Amino acid sequence: MGTERSTEFVERIQARTVRVGVVGLGYVGLPLAVEFASNGFDVTGFEISEEKAAEINAGSSYIQDVPTDEVRRLVDLGRLRATVDFERLTEIDAIIVCVPTPLNKTKEPDISYILSAAERIRAAMRPGQLIVLESTTYPGTTDEVLLPILAASGLELDVDFFLAFSPERVDPGNPTFQTRNITKVVGGVSEPSSLVAAALYGTVVETVHRVSSARVAEAAKLLENTFRAVNIGLVNEIAQMCYQLGIDTWGGHRRCEDEAVRVHGLLSGTLASAATASRSIRTTCRGRRVCTASRQSSSALRRK
Ligand SMILES: NC(=O)c1ccc[n+]([C@@H]2O[C@H](COP(=O)([O-])OP(=O)(O)OC[C@H]3O[C@@H](n4cnc5c(N)ncnc54)[C@H](O)[C@@H]3O)[C@@H](O)[C@H]2O)c1
Repeated sequence: MGTERSTEFVERIQARTVRVGVVGLGYVGLPLAVEFASNGFDVTGFEISEEKAAEINAGSSYIQDVPTDEVRRLVDLGRLRATVDFERLTEIDAIIVCVPTPLNKTKEPDISYILSAAERIRAAMRPGQLIVLESTTYPGTTDEVLLPILAASGLELDVDFFLAFSPERVDPGNPTFQTRNITKVVGGVSEPSSLVAAALYGTVVETVHRVSSARVAEAAKLLENTFRAVNIGLVNEIAQMCYQLGIDTWGGHRRCEDEAVRVHGLLSGTLASAATASRSIRTTCRGRRVCTASRQSSSALRRK
């Protein structure tokens, strides 16, 4: 496709004539599908779960952050549907993969869902498609694993198809940051791929941050997750310490963040995101529950 084809693809994106397909309608895929459909795109979700596909087609949402009313409105308008028929991927211009990537028993990433989705896409590929991987994975997955599978279709990168990685950064349950206002990081396996993928996301999110390659985008997501995990661990440790010292760590959470930035050189966002992430973490300390540990540690820092 090259530059000419990428320009043409971008024009179709802007005209909303590109048909979007989301593979995997879970916590990541369903909000994204709804966002594209709400912004005027024709969207089809591809699921292995017949139950989930049927729920969407009945106009019902099974994800807390996605209102049923909006799903029903989009389904009634004919802009959103779900299917378990992967042959219909051939009708799609922009395919976004949002399948699970759990860790296996030895804590290694299990990319079997990505491989399965990739095989189904390869079987339905035709010239003129963009494929974007959103699943969290190790750097190299898109260009070392996905690209050879797709190229086995006989189609050629940048001649027949584009390929990019864009990590999902959603924080389920967060009322402030949702799909539209979370900056989208995008990295293509080639420059035209990067351009086209960034143009697609630019229609539904406020800020798109293009990085130099798919690998960089994959690494950025891992760094972000590691950063958050370390901070959750840190605030949970501090919370336990505060509890044992009899320090009230519940008050002044926000003021503490300001103080932490000024005095201790910590990132305000660090504590905020750790607080969000650790909402579900319940640490037992001396037989009592210490909840939302980061709030407690925030308060403790303020008192120092
Ligand atoms: N949930 C989050 O907060 C979050 C945040 C950032 C990144 N991620 C990443 O996004 C990816 C998706 O996570 P999720 O939370 O949406 O998972 P999920 O389990 O909620 O949803 C995945 C969906 O994919 C479907 N599926 C599985 N294999 C499939 C296939 N071959 N074809 C089509 N559909 C298939 C499942 O039925 C399920 O509905 C993971 O890599 C995850 O690490 C998740």
